[in-house]
Amino acid sequence: MSQQHSALASAPTPAQAKRSDWWRDAVIYQVYPRSFADSNGDGMGDLEGIRSRLPYLRDLGVDAVWLSPFYASPQADAGYDVADYRAVDPMFGNLLDADALIRDAHELSLRIIVDLVPNHSSDQHEWFKRALREGPGSALRDRYHFRPGKGEHGELPPNNWESIFGGPAWTRVTEPDGTPGEWYLHLFAPEQPDFNWEHPAVGDEFRSILRFWLDMGVDGFRIDVAHGMVKAEGLPDIGGDGDQLKLLGNDVMPFFDQDGVHDIYRQWRLILDEYAGERIFVAEAWTPTVARTANYVRPDELHQAFNFQYLGTHWDAEELRKVVDLTLEAMRPVGAPATWVLSNHDVTRHATRFANPAGLGTQIREAGDRELGLRRARAATLLMLALPGSAYIYQGEELGLPDVVDLPDEVRQDPAYFRGAGQDGFRDGCRVPIPWTREGSSYGFGTGGSWLPQPAEWADLSVEAQTGVAGSTLELYRTALSVRRAEPDLGAGDSVEWLRAPEGVLAFRRGEFVCVANTTGESVTTPAYGRVLLASGEIAEVDGDAKIPSDTTVWWTTA
Ligand code: NOJ
Repeated sequence: MSQQHSALASAPTPAQAKRSDWWRDAVIYQVYPRSFADSNGDGMGDLEGIRSRLPYLRDLGVDAVWLSPFYASPQADAGYDVADYRAVDPMFGNLLDADALIRDAHELSLRIIVDLVPNHSSDQHEWFKRALREGPGSALRDRYHFRPGKGEHGELPPNNWESIFGGPAWTRVTEPDGTPGEWYLHLFAPEQPDFNWEHPAVGDEFRSILRFWLDMGVDGFRIDVAHGMVKAEGLPDIGGDGDQLKLLGNDVMPFFDQDGVHDIYRQWRLILDEYAGERIFVAEAWTPTVARTANYVRPDELHQAFNFQYLGTHWDAEELRKVVDLTLEAMRPVGAPATWVLSNHDVTRHATRFANPAGLGTQIREAGDRELGLRRARAATLLMLALPGSAYIYQGEELGLPDVVDLPDEVRQDPAYFRGAGQDGFRDGCRVPIPWTREGSSYGFGTGGSWLPQPAEWADLSVEAQTGVAGSTLELYRTALSVRRAEPDLGAGDSVEWLRAPEGVLAFRRGEFVCVANTTGESVTTPAYGRVLLASGEIAEVDGDAKIPSDTTVWWTTA
């Protein structure tokens, strides 16, 4: 039954179906739909806009496109609050547009990965609305986490958990009779109630949603908060000082990375494997260690998990080497490819992170030294793309875009910003619509404006301004991706052979390929390892030595 396709179905092309394990070394490009391309001039990106730009992504040389949510949603968290998992929000288009997008992508040999948001729904989801309407005792309340409050009159939240966006993780409802009543759990915004995954209806519903999109022809799912669906039995208080920021440190929280979550993925994997064309799951799982991340990608579970430890690593040779080794060691026993990522829609763009002193974290409000940031970002990209496994690119990083750190508060939309400093907080700055042309009201993003203002300097960073310009960041990405496709050792395998290198320099060999990254602020001299394939800056070779400028990565082939 699952092999049958609906009227809208779009099966992978024969070429796609043939290539085995495509995802092991795939470069996957994240499109943030509201900020990629706007086809109808309303200032908001949409599916038709994305479809019109697919040739750009093909020419860039990526293998697959991951789309952040475009489902029906009140947009309390930019679409990560889903009201209907089987419908496209009218602001992005409709199901026919989704079908056309998937078909066109397949025609261009691009795969499409969609976002699945199973930890929570929108408070405007039919189940939650009914749960509220029907009052205490409603069977629908069991599909979420409703609890009576503590205190004499139930005026205190059921436990001490805090929302990732700041403030309590519980909101008290007003019952249909107008009295203050039960509380419900929301690890994120109050408009994002957490599902109760102990309830069988929740699992049934998501298995059906998976099939719906698989039948539409998608090639995979990025699973939002993949580490959060199962909560510890009894929803116990967090011990000690309850400092949730530790969740990125070494403590496991009672709502994250619980072992029970793996049962869900084993069931999902069976469904996915019924479908032709090697479709995949990638987990957004923030775990305390890469070793815990590896649990998500055991052979009968998911295919990939984002490597957030790598994303959080400073531009520092020693730190980078450590996280590369830890990652490869953790993935080897489970046979999953490592993944590498530098930016996404939740963190300050890496060109801005690297423009600032190390240690400020991944949410930064300072522009820093832009030139330095861009030089390091380009070098970091070549390093990332030289590592074995799969790499993720976030829209606009191929243009070297910095974060927009000075957005006026009145245009901000990130709920994390309004709820105070949680794990996140300044995410609008990486979500500003990208510039396509030098001119135009929104630099070619659309014919109208753009939902967040774009800085005037972005004219010179536009796709138009960089296309065909030797040494531009866009051409660096294009060349890097085409070299990566052509070089057999790039992407494949599960190890690197480290070479001796000066302090602050990373050097490794992979077959006939050598990568050297100078993370220091000085130029360094290393052996010239062969023929230069690509470099993120100008390098000079004299008598078998190479002079590599500060913050620069070089690729060589010894063939
Ligand atoms: C992770 C998503 O990447 C982020 O944007 C969202 O706010 C949270 N999950 C909640 O869905």
